[in-house]
Amino acid sequence: MKAYIFDLDGVIVDTAKFHFLAWKKIGEEFGFELTHELNEQLKGVSRVDSLTKILGWAGVSVSSEKFDELATRKNADYLSYVEKMNENDILPGVKTFLEKAKKENIGIALGSASKNARPILQKLGIISYFDVIVDGNDVTKAKPDPEVFVIAAQKLGVDNEKCVVFEDSEAGIQAAKTAGMKAIGIGSPEVLTQADEVFSGFDAILNQ
Ligand code: G6P
Ligand code: MG
Repeated sequence: MKAYIFDLDGVIVDTAKFHFLAWKKIGEEFGFELTHELNEQLKGVSRVDSLTKILGWAGVSVSSEKFDELATRKNADYLSYVEKMNENDILPGVKTFLEKAKKENIGIALGSASKNARPILQKLGIISYFDVIVDGNDVTKAKPDPEVFVIAAQKLGVDNEKCVVFEDSEAGIQAAKTAGMKAIGIGSPEVLTQADEVFSGFDAILNQ
């Protein structure tokens, strides 16, 4: 048996832009301008690690109370964007690709760093496609550590070498490669240089 493991943000749905907007606002509070280039380093990175990086770039240190308050506020802001989403926000080709995989009896898992993964999949009406969901609540080591994908493969009962990972982040591609899985990049080949193959999206994969 073979399996597909999907990242969520920036692969299934374009929530990566909402994470960016919410972190940008937090950075501005410290006079720091988050650029798209630096934002690449936040993709696939947990909430706490993302905030640590931003504060580091801004050159500020805060109390642990302030840290928690900033993380909570970022998440509330992020969720205010997410609230307005519906199934039309699923990225092009994703649903057709999931349906095709189901018909071919390919195992389907989610491997995301997000603690909001389940409610987002529910909101998009596609949670039932997933045989296994491993998210930010289930892991202790963040991407580029392969833990999230290794747990997903174990839960599916599929060997790592038989798993194909779909990822939009450099950290996620690295995690998949370290796990011995095939890594398909969703995005630009200039950014996802370690991927086995890179596509602009699932429409492009379906039309290849
Ligand atoms: C994904 C995104 C990151 C985000 C992380 C945690 O990996 O690419 O940008 O920081 O999930 O998401 P959460 O929804 O738990 O804050
Ligand atoms: Mg992502």
